[in-house]
Amino acid sequence: MAQDYDWFIENFCRVTGIDLEKYKRPQMERRLTALCTKRGFQNFGEYLDAASKDSRLMDELLDRMTINVSEFFRNRSRWDALAQLIPTLMRNNHLKAWSAACSTGQEPYTLMLLLSKLMTVSGVSLLATDIDDRALRVAKEGIYNEEELMPIEQDLKSKYFRSVNSTQQQVSDELRSQIEFKKHNLLEQPFDSDYDLIICRNVLIYFTDPAKDILYHKFAQSLRSGGVLFVGSTEQIFHAETYRLKQIQPFFYQKI
Ligand SMILES: C[S@@+](CC[C@H](N)C(=O)[O-])C[C@H]1O[C@@H](n2cnc3c(N)ncnc32)[C@H](O)[C@@H]1O
Repeated sequence: MAQDYDWFIENFCRVTGIDLEKYKRPQMERRLTALCTKRGFQNFGEYLDAASKDSRLMDELLDRMTINVSEFFRNRSRWDALAQLIPTLMRNNHLKAWSAACSTGQEPYTLMLLLSKLMTVSGVSLLATDIDDRALRVAKEGIYNEEELMPIEQDLKSKYFRSVNSTQQQVSDELRSQIEFKKHNLLEQPFDSDYDLIICRNVLIYFTDPAKDILYHKFAQSLRSGGVLFVGSTEQIFHAETYRLKQIQPFFYQKI
C-alpha cells in the first residue's frame, strides 16, 4: 500500500494542486487509507479515478484531507492574551490582520468580535484564507448553530448576530463585510506583507518540518517589524530567533 500511496500523492497533486508530500505522512496516509477502504476500493488508483469522476467522492476525500474543525474563541485564555496585545499592534487606530487557514470562519469572526470591544470595526482590514472552497463558502455565509455560539458573550451575540431560523444565527453584515475571504494555499502561494497580526492556528501541525520551516520564514517576512504571529496551542516554534521572531508569550511571536 505504501507504493500505492506514493502514486496517490503524485496524482492527487496533479488533480487538485495539493501537495501531500508537505503533510505529515503517517496520519494522512492512515486517514485516507481508511476512507479508501471504507468506500470499497482495492487501491488508491481505483479510488482517485472514481473520485475524479464523482464530485461527492472528491468532496468527501478533500474533507477528510483538510480537517476543518474550528470553534469560536478556541482556547479562550489565548484570545484574552491577544486582547491585551491589540493596543500595541494598532497603528493610527487601524489593524491589518490575516487569519490563515480560517476554515469555516469561526477564527476570523472571533477576532472581529474581540476587536469590536477595542477599536472601531471599520479600522480593521482582515484577510481570511483557506485552501478549502467548501469551508470558505460556510465562512462567507456566516451562519452557525446556536450551540456553536455558546462561547460568545451575550452582548456581542445580540449586537453582531441575527436569527435566520429557530436553530441558527448569522453574523451581521457589518462584520462579514469587513472580512475578505479568499482561497489560498499556504504551501504554494505568495503572502502579502506589512501585517500587524497573523493568526495561523491548528494547521501547521499537519505539515512536515521542512514545510513548517519555510512557512515560519514566510510569516516572519509578512509581518511588519513588531507585528505578531499567533499560533495554535500545540504549535510552539523552536528556535524562533532563526526566523527573526521572538516569543513574547506562549503562542505569540513578535517580528524582531
Ligand atoms: C483544523 S482547521 C483550523 C481552523 C482554525 N485555524 C482554528 O484553529 O480553529 C485546519 C484548516 O487548514 C486548512 N488547510 C489545510 N491545508 C492548507 C493549506 N495548504 N493552505 C491553506 N489552508 C490549509 C484546512 O482546509 C482547514 O480548514
